[in-house]
Amino acid sequence: MNSIPDVTFNDGQTMPSLGFGCWTLSEKEAAAAILSALKIGYRLIDGAYIYGNEAQMGEALRASELKRDEIFLTTKVWNADQGRGKTRASVERSLKAIGVDQLNLVLIHWPVPKNDLYVETWQTLIELKNEGLVRSIGVSNFNADHLERIIGETGEVPVLNQIEVNPALQQTELRAACAAQNIIVQAWTPLGNGRNFDSAPIRDAAARTGKSPAQIILRWHMQLGNTTIPRSTNPKRQADNLDIFDFELTADEMSAIATLDEGVRCGPDPLVFSGD
Ligand SMILES: NC(=O)c1ccc[n+]([C@@H]2O[C@H](COP(=O)([O-])OP(=O)(O)OC[C@H]3O[C@@H](n4cnc5c(N)ncnc54)[C@H](OP(=O)(O)O)[C@@H]3O)[C@@H](O)[C@H]2O)c1
Repeated sequence: MNSIPDVTFNDGQTMPSLGFGCWTLSEKEAAAAILSALKIGYRLIDGAYIYGNEAQMGEALRASELKRDEIFLTTKVWNADQGRGKTRASVERSLKAIGVDQLNLVLIHWPVPKNDLYVETWQTLIELKNEGLVRSIGVSNFNADHLERIIGETGEVPVLNQIEVNPALQQTELRAACAAQNIIVQAWTPLGNGRNFDSAPIRDAAARTGKSPAQIILRWHMQLGNTTIPRSTNPKRQADNLDIFDFELTADEMSAIATLDEGVRCGPDPLVFSGD
């Protein structure tokens, strides 16, 4: 298996372009799934307070016997924890639950525009970064207006925006807005719940390369310039999802996959989602 290329953030830090997502992993299955991913070669683990498995993330890290600086850890501040005091408490709680003294990346999980607290939350993340509790800071589910506002009001550009991207929701404009600010895009639900696995562009590329539909889609993300964090509890699929660096999609195959964009979301609309 070829090694995973790094990307470099606008703050100079680096992150693997492909990592392991922890959403929906139950307390019971999370430690084993994350440990298996680390053994297979994943070095980026994407967690969040709301996933309820930060303690298991820490358990897997310790069981892996990898050094702390070999692993890139992300967590996220949940919607109900936005605002100065709560954000600080949330990051401190995540550090304690995982059992580490610094996080590589902390994201604001959703903008929740109706609460209008994301600028204050962003200012708090800047403070936590300056204090060294967090190495890099970013956002998730932010649109171009939200990005512009936090940058305009604080001068601090997020290193990354984690957003839903898959063949049925290609987010061309938002990806361009991120690229213009040198913000890395990290695709969540990168496989799009399998919606396009049987489509002709994916099937044809899979037949030509001998790869699976999931591998074709993950490779498409890489060639588009996205980073991504697929999740699987199945060690064989975990390994397959990493095994995408030994082939390339042709320009024609990339163009064919571009036609699958329907603007259809798997997840909620960030403009209205609050999680209440
Ligand atoms: N920031 C946000 O708001 C947000 C929202 C959603 C997700 N995320 C993050 O993004 C990560 C990934 O998104 P996701 O978990 O929704 O979806 P995903 O990674 O696109 O897909 C996971 C699903 O695909 C299956 N799968 C994985 N590899 C496969 C393969 N090679 N072939 C066939 N099926 C495969 C998995 O089943 P098995 O386990 O059975 O293999 C699972 O049901 C999350 O875990 C989380 O870390 C962030």
